[in-house]
Amino acid sequence: MASESVKVVVRCRPMNQRERELNCQAVVTVDCARGQCFIQNPGAADEPPKQFTFDGAYYMDHVTEQIYNEIAYPLVEGVTEGYNGTIFAYGQTGSGKSFTMQGLPDPPSQRGIIPRAFEHVFESVQCAENTKFLVRASYLEIYNEDVRDLLGPDTKQKLELKEHPEKGVYVKGLSLHTVHSVAQCERIMETGWKNRSVGYTLMNKDSSRSHSIFTISIEIYTVDERGKDHLRAGKLNLVDLAGSERQSKTGATGERLKEATKINLSLSALGNVISALVDGRCKHIPYRDSKLTRLLQDSLGGNTKTLMVACLSPADNNYDETLSTLRYANRAKNIKNKPRINEDPKDALLREYQEEIKRLKAILAQHMSHGSLAAMLSSQAPPKPVQVEEKPLPTPVIQQDTEAEKQLIREEYEERLARLKADYEAEQESRARLEEDITAMRNSYDMKLSTLEENLRKETGGHTALHTAGPTLFNPHTGPQVGPQLPSFCR
Ligand SMILES: Nc1ncnc2c1ncn2[C@@H]1O[C@H](COP(=O)(O)OP(=O)(O)OP(=O)(O)O)[C@@H](O)[C@H]1O
Ligand SMILES: [Mg+2]
Repeated sequence: MASESVKVVVRCRPMNQRERELNCQAVVTVDCARGQCFIQNPGAADEPPKQFTFDGAYYMDHVTEQIYNEIAYPLVEGVTEGYNGTIFAYGQTGSGKSFTMQGLPDPPSQRGIIPRAFEHVFESVQCAENTKFLVRASYLEIYNEDVRDLLGPDTKQKLELKEHPEKGVYVKGLSLHTVHSVAQCERIMETGWKNRSVGYTLMNKDSSRSHSIFTISIEIYTVDERGKDHLRAGKLNLVDLAGSERQSKTGATGERLKEATKINLSLSALGNVISALVDGRCKHIPYRDSKLTRLLQDSLGGNTKTLMVACLSPADNNYDETLSTLRYANRAKNIKNKPRINEDPKDALLREYQEEIKRLKAILAQHMSHGSLAAMLSSQAPPKPVQVEEKPLPTPVIQQDTEAEKQLIREEYEERLARLKADYEAEQESRARLEEDITAMRNSYDMKLSTLEENLRKETGGHTALHTAGPTLFNPHTGPQVGPQLPSFCR
């Protein structure tokens, strides 16, 4: 299996108001064409700047749209083909991680990677032919080392991490939301965003106090020319980390300080995982040291396509933090992953749905062919078409989906049944009319016959020569009977 490196780009934001007021100088420069980033030590102006090369380097005037199109697009495209993908923003507090991931609605060019990704996913879904998709979203945060569901009924409830031999690490009880449109996805993102822990610090008035992971899961069901079906599943993790911070700069005390300590701890666990992965001699990768590294296990050294956006402040008073971010990012680009398409995952819901539909169809076909049509038609109560053995499904949302599918099939069945009933009744009516016609005709025939016999008897002096035997006439109600030969249209 081919391996590929974690992709890393850097993004340097413009100087903020505080930095301008402090008369800060820019120490970061970028050569966008070469993907290079330079940082000048403000305390050693005569030294040449330190130089780093990445898969992309973006400066103050670059917009998220460009970053997405150049570097995030192929990764998200891969997810729609069945790869797992992770995009995460890393950097010190106030460096632009949430700005990059979440972004602003206006100007549109600065919309974040998260809303762009689901727009992209739905475009792919709508363009694909002969393909069925199931798209689901979840949104969690890791706050003070507790995992919380940002879309759950209780956003403060702590959730447990579990490990599954095939699924890997997952969050037990995390709500999954089936989404059918960009608008639905946006609503989910906004709900989760509002529930996220944010607090004021001196470095960022809307500082993220938690790491967040927005996940889009896609199941892709196709049928090839030979009628064979294929199922693939891709998962896209969009991670907005909390920023590393120094108490002296953020002025954090009390709750803010406690949060900062946990944030720094999990970020250093992430740093240790990255170092261990790129150090060829290291056998043990300390994924278990934090919830963040456990959840990102597949994205770092696993089967995922991963992109890291390292966010930087240009200001000289952040030199140490910026240099540390650049070194961190530089190490990350040496991580090797082995991305592979997830074919036929065992827990795929679309497979479960397909099988459920096949089962229901088979039961329906059985009902239809068993000759019990008349019995079924005579029952006035709405038929209970299928006795489906209900299987417990993973989450309430998922159950709703299966219920919806069953409801659809039930409706389709009832409609078909009503049509058959109407046809049957129409046929019964026309048979009744036919019988009336036959009776009337027989009466008139009998009458004519007896008149003829009477006349004959008169003419021959009491002897008749006519017989009343004819071919067998089938009466749908009374069965076969013997009667006179009828005109051909009545047979
Ligand atoms: N490229 C950019 N262009 C314009 N403004 C930006 C840019 N990047 C960040 N900002 C602004 O800088 C401020 C801090 O950004 P943001 O909240 O994204 O930082 P952060 O890295 O998420 O910080 P924290 O770790 O504290 O959550 C915000 O007001 C944001 O609008
Ligand atoms: Mg943030």
